[in-house]
Amino acid sequence: MKPVKVGICGLGTVGGGTYNVLKRNAEEIARRAGRKIIVEEIGARHTNPDCDTKGIQLTDDVFAVAKNPEIDVVVELIGGYDVAKELVLTAIEHGKHVVTANKALIAVHGNEIFEAAQKKNVMVAFEASVAGGIPIIKAIREGLSANKINWLAGIINGTGNFIMTEMRDKGREFSDVLAEAQALGYAEADPTFDVEGIDAAHKLTILASIAFGIPLQFDKAFTEGISKITRDDVQYAEELGYRIKHLGVSRRTDKGVELRVHPTLIPESALIANVNGVMNAILVDGDAVGQTMYYGPGAGSEPTASAVVADIVDVVRTLTADRDNRVPHLAFQPSELSDMPI
Ligand code: HSE
Repeated sequence: MKPVKVGICGLGTVGGGTYNVLKRNAEEIARRAGRKIIVEEIGARHTNPDCDTKGIQLTDDVFAVAKNPEIDVVVELIGGYDVAKELVLTAIEHGKHVVTANKALIAVHGNEIFEAAQKKNVMVAFEASVAGGIPIIKAIREGLSANKINWLAGIINGTGNFIMTEMRDKGREFSDVLAEAQALGYAEADPTFDVEGIDAAHKLTILASIAFGIPLQFDKAFTEGISKITRDDVQYAEELGYRIKHLGVSRRTDKGVELRVHPTLIPESALIANVNGVMNAILVDGDAVGQTMYYGPGAGSEPTASAVVADIVDVVRTLTADRDNRVPHLAFQPSELSDMPI
């Protein structure tokens, strides 16, 4: 069978990791996808010293990748709202399937993007947009598809959890740990997204749309970050037998679905209170299964690349297996779902 050709846009932390994982595990990935996957072109303003891109076509124009007639799947890893939106819509317009790790893009412009994708009968996959390497979207959408979800709650920002953990365990200063999170490639380009809860609200918006079948409604989320938490707060909580964790919570209520992110006091004996560092964890309560919990690295180059590449594999498999019914498998379909007031 013909190989599938991929174009990667962005070669930063996640783009570089994606390229390296695709290259390193090419054989394994081809076996799982049922077809060879080739990186046809990379669109990036800068090269990445961690990537050996010898022999790969490079351009600094990401739109050239989105329009390249050779390419089947465009992988958007440039981040941000506006250019990324234009890029993804251009790729869709040109009949490409899209894989993205961009939670801001999906949370804010997802409804429009999915509508455009549906019209062109292409897939948009976004597993890496929530909780880094944890396959939480697939777990909720596929693994828990028998359930009516009652609520979900989780630590969904790795940078914030890393900061809170280091403040508690080592008494370090907030700004000092944030600088380390930036150096490790955990933080957003604008780290206020991490510390003011915006990144977590983006992710919660996406999780809630999948879990409760509602359109993406980022503007309805109550959003409070960790920037006002001091070392004293962390230590007092500890003395009282609690941990402060920044949680995203979404719950079905009689009036609709609640969406909120904020710091929370959690008894130290609770499993989720012991999720430390860059790790994320999400608890999901379903009516049939009861409570399940998903744990893993919430940020970082290869953990996030793991989810991006899994989406590429998923797109390739669906492309091969089911040409006529490909969109509902991967993309959230706002038009088919009822709106629930929040
Ligand atoms: N800045 C994000 C985080 C990256 O720290 O969780 C992963 O989405």
